[in-house]
Amino acid sequence: MSDSSVGKPIDRVDGRLKITGAARYSAENRLEGLVHGVLVTSTISRGSIVSMDARPARESPGVLAVLHRGAAPKVAKPKSDFFAGGMLGEERMPFEDDVVHYAGQPIALVVAATLQQARFAASRVRVAYRNEEPLLDPMDPRAPSSFPKQSFGEELQYRRGDVTAALAASGTVRVEATYTTPVETHNPMELSATVAEWRGDRLVVYDATQWVMGTRAILAETFEIPRKNVRVICPFVGGGFGCKGFQWPHTILAAMAARAVHRPVRIVLTRAQMFSSVGHRPPTNQKLTIAASPEGKLTAIRHETVQPSSPMSEYVEACGLSTSPHMYACANVEAPHQLVRINVATPTPMRAPGECPGTWALESAMDELAEKLSIDPIELRLRNHADADPSTGKPFSSKYLKECYALGAQKFGWARRTPAPRSMRDGDLLVGWGVATATYPGYRFPASAKISLAADGTATVRTAAHDLGTGAYTVLTQVAADALGLPQDRVRLELGDSDFPAAPVAGGSNTTASVSEAIIQAGAAMRDTLAKLAASDPRSPLAGIAAKDTVLAAGRLAASADPAKSVDWKDLVRASGRATIDAEASVKLDDEKSKAYSFHSYGAQFCEVKIDPLLPRVRVTRFVSVIDNGRVLNPKTSRSQILGGVTMGIGMALMEHTAYDDRTGRAITDNLADYAVPVNADIEGIEAYFIDRPDPRINTLGCRGIGEIGITGVAAAVANAVYHATGRRIRDLPITPDKLL
Ligand code: MOS
Repeated sequence: MSDSSVGKPIDRVDGRLKITGAARYSAENRLEGLVHGVLVTSTISRGSIVSMDARPARESPGVLAVLHRGAAPKVAKPKSDFFAGGMLGEERMPFEDDVVHYAGQPIALVVAATLQQARFAASRVRVAYRNEEPLLDPMDPRAPSSFPKQSFGEELQYRRGDVTAALAASGTVRVEATYTTPVETHNPMELSATVAEWRGDRLVVYDATQWVMGTRAILAETFEIPRKNVRVICPFVGGGFGCKGFQWPHTILAAMAARAVHRPVRIVLTRAQMFSSVGHRPPTNQKLTIAASPEGKLTAIRHETVQPSSPMSEYVEACGLSTSPHMYACANVEAPHQLVRINVATPTPMRAPGECPGTWALESAMDELAEKLSIDPIELRLRNHADADPSTGKPFSSKYLKECYALGAQKFGWARRTPAPRSMRDGDLLVGWGVATATYPGYRFPASAKISLAADGTATVRTAAHDLGTGAYTVLTQVAADALGLPQDRVRLELGDSDFPAAPVAGGSNTTASVSEAIIQAGAAMRDTLAKLAASDPRSPLAGIAAKDTVLAAGRLAASADPAKSVDWKDLVRASGRATIDAEASVKLDDEKSKAYSFHSYGAQFCEVKIDPLLPRVRVTRFVSVIDNGRVLNPKTSRSQILGGVTMGIGMALMEHTAYDDRTGRAITDNLADYAVPVNADIEGIEAYFIDRPDPRINTLGCRGIGEIGITGVAAAVANAVYHATGRRIRDLPITPDKLL
């Protein structure tokens, strides 16, 4: 048996391709005859288009077409939703009507021979609007508002017990506070881009997407062609964080334009367009009312979220979904969500949608409660630890949150903390230490994979999954190597092609948990296929041995009981007369297990800040993150995910803020100079640790996802540290110096 590859800190198998520029991203597909599309977007945020004069644009040099409501091929409106395998980012189809719902809405597309020509011509599309007063403030009482029942099948008006009665009870200690977050924008390095080409009635699309199968479904329905006639290719994604999860107008428009001009068309969004055309994290207003006995036992949690969407989507940033109902043992919990429609661009999931702002509010409130009760913040959380999921009573599939607190406290040195605010110093600097709980659900979806063994001794594994930059190529290579009993350098992963066996959206941190299982099952199918071939050859040492009594190891198929009896599978491939021997597996979920257990990951986030009292810029000097996501398949890529999540969380806590002009509703921080994110100089001393004990219920390897949990709880840990340093409780993110003056 070769050593197991899973569990080793393997370097990224796609690292060299990326460093050398050989990894080809969507926009880099320079197809023959490629022409360029540039979006024209609305400059007002509410009203309608009275007239559009496209002639000056059409007559500009190099222009092939100007598509707009009055001049665009008719297309159908897709019906698929998330569960049917594809989902529009906004419900409205481009050019569906003349109504303007938000600033930045696509209203025309100019196609020209060169990008410069298309840009110039786009500037010459003349639009006359009927301008209405936009609703821009989520708390504006005139904004249409609702209390939606569900989000992705989950309860949005959660309640258990009797919160009102519990809050009325005497002798409890109560915290009541409102926590707010601004709009945050994903800003992956790679801009959203689509290259579309029609080959007869077949559509081939290179799309920067987290979901090739979703893009395929939406395009097939839009153009009313069979799904098999659409191929969506995306082997590399330069970051997504959710903004490439669903399907947005530019992708549909690229395919529409390619059909209109009979040429391949490329649309690359500008950085500014990334702020209005592919979603953002909506702002949240969260009112927390929590009460506890003097001993620190929670008696009530009311977690009320108000958040806006555009008129084009019912997307809810569900702050009280995977947080307050599950986190602590508390009999009385309410977590209602109110959705408000305003004239700001359409939101979408962004890294840990819901849990990220939700833990900011809940874990800030828990810190306030700990302070009021004079109980150590970790001790308060331990006193309310949920041994089983308090929302259902079901056992957790596995949960080592107490171990996370303990390991984190030890690594961080929590015992040396003096509780009083402003009690710790480093020279002239105020020092603050804060803690918060992290959480994210453990998602697993159906997935499939195909393995092809070649006579040169290599294995190729294909699945329509994605590597967003997270390390999926590497980790899945390790899984496949073990499944086939091969060294990892003889395994090649191919991802991101809708012609490959179906795989889910790279969202909800599910890829490794889902696809590893498909690869393991495909490996088992491969063993059976090879064993049958061997068993049927009377001269084979394995003649007559049943498949279940064989094992794949070191490039050979061997009898389990007698490893000396073995064959080199290269010989089996050669003898088959085919180029490869293939095996495929499609894995559904085990419904009984899925229903019997609650699948959640947990973690503990510890933050140290240092603040100059005269110029109160918050510096995070140390951060310890301890995560229980079941078994760790690759400590190196997993650590990188947590470093990334914590870094993004520090950005959320201290910097990120998409600001809008409050007259026009246009994003004014629509570039990476004005939209501040942490750079290397802002980040130091992040440590990531894992409990690394398998979750025996989720899949064969026992692994839950790691992409999103790292950002959860971070903003609260930072804010709690800021309070400890300064005595100032900031409940409105980001914590910029002006708020501490
Ligand atoms: Mo993620 S926000 O589920 O892509």
